[in-house]
Amino acid sequence: MTRKAPLSWTIRKMVWNSISIIIFRGKKAEKIPMPPKDPRLLRTVPVSERIPGIEVGDIMMADRIPRGESSLKMRLAFSFRIWLSKVFPPVVHGLPQIDKDINKAMDAAYTRYYKAVYPRPKLPAAFAHAGMPDLGEMAVASPYACFVKKEKEGNLVWDFRDLDDHEIYANLRPLGCRVFFKLDKKTRKLQATRIECVLGDIKPDDDRWNEAVRTAMCAASTQISLVNHFNGVHLACGGPFSIATRNHLYYAHPICRLMWPHMFGTQNSNYLVAKGQMLRGGDFETVFSFSHQGLCNLFARSYASYRASVIVPSLDWRDRGLPDGLDMPTQDNLVQLYDVMQAHTARYIAAYYSSDEAIARDEAVVAWVRALNEGIPNGIDGITGGVITRDSIARLAAGFIYMATVQHEALGSRMWNYQMWVDKNPVRIHVSGKRVSVDTYQRLLNANFNLNVDRAILMQDLSYFAVDDKGKVAFRQFFDDLKALDAKMKTEKFACWRVTPAMLDANINA
Ligand SMILES: [Fe+2]
Repeated sequence: MTRKAPLSWTIRKMVWNSISIIIFRGKKAEKIPMPPKDPRLLRTVPVSERIPGIEVGDIMMADRIPRGESSLKMRLAFSFRIWLSKVFPPVVHGLPQIDKDINKAMDAAYTRYYKAVYPRPKLPAAFAHAGMPDLGEMAVASPYACFVKKEKEGNLVWDFRDLDDHEIYANLRPLGCRVFFKLDKKTRKLQATRIECVLGDIKPDDDRWNEAVRTAMCAASTQISLVNHFNGVHLACGGPFSIATRNHLYYAHPICRLMWPHMFGTQNSNYLVAKGQMLRGGDFETVFSFSHQGLCNLFARSYASYRASVIVPSLDWRDRGLPDGLDMPTQDNLVQLYDVMQAHTARYIAAYYSSDEAIARDEAVVAWVRALNEGIPNGIDGITGGVITRDSIARLAAGFIYMATVQHEALGSRMWNYQMWVDKNPVRIHVSGKRVSVDTYQRLLNANFNLNVDRAILMQDLSYFAVDDKGKVAFRQFFDDLKALDAKMKTEKFACWRVTPAMLDANINA
């Protein structure tokens, strides 16, 4: 029987839930403003200098939030929330575990006040049956499809072994694991055949298989939120992309106008989210398995090993060494979205540069590419091939649009429909067999809920950014193409993992 929560938790829950809902309601999408005519250069400084208390000296971020990106109201709301989390924390030791029935647990946490502003998480088809999800299906038709890769030895795997290199809390199960998949050439599907993890080398007929699957699901969920979403999209790619664009592409430069809607707000978002989630007692260390030190080490390691080709789905597929002859619904979905973006950037660039020589001679573009190579860990040559041509810059620019819109959605807001089902997709696993506590679950819910705030949508007429009529035509064509793709995707059967243009925000603003 589930122990009853004390009255003090009821009050704590009421206060923190009210704050989440008020912030959610208060954030309204605004028109993305034009770039400033005379900007002050942004410098980069270590996160540990910018936000004392986050001990990650190796990750760089802008020295300030540029004027126009942040509102006093949002800053005050965030500061108040961080202050309150110290004096009246949303998680406290010793609270009971959530209900055994996940639907009851969710109903207790996701009250009618939330439902009035945002729909309850949907149940992915892969979670709908009894038992644990089929990892073969999760590997190609879920947000976790980004993890499948081919090892040098030829094995198709999810490899989360390095999660064991970072400190976790003493009462939790270590998450380092490797899942082996076999491709069935007839059905074109993947099948999980083995899981190496702390429980041993487990095969599907082992009675510990379900526990091994739980470990792999927890590792995937942890990795996607900490490494791929916040560290990858926000810090390793989004931050340097935004800084390079602000510093090197001046106000009326056509590439500045192409990129601006998709990078506006990044420094504000990175600063506020890092403070709220990475400081001691923040969301990350109170929801996932890592201690503060473990979290900082994980961020430093994964920032340094960032690979920029993840922002171009076809290159990402190639760099993961994946074979043909495999059904890959998530990858197909991502490629369709990227292709519309690449058609847009290629058309736009062709309108402004009559030849490859013309773009290679543009000093602002050269400086932008250099700054991107210096700012993004391991550079961007994996996307451009180290050359500046109309094609390479179109590929890169489309990659940035894709990163800020599709990747941010797939790795962030879409997790709403996955991470809340902690019976199938745990965020941490207690070695005692206990389920997560009510306060941890509520904090997970509030952190994910917050990812769904109203932002400027991608599917809008961005032609007001154009410097002339050529640009206007290109921006409107992009809008039309997105609408056409959205209409096509609406005819397909609903799936929790599928990303559609109508879901997308234009940028990663908090
Ligand atoms: Fe985000």
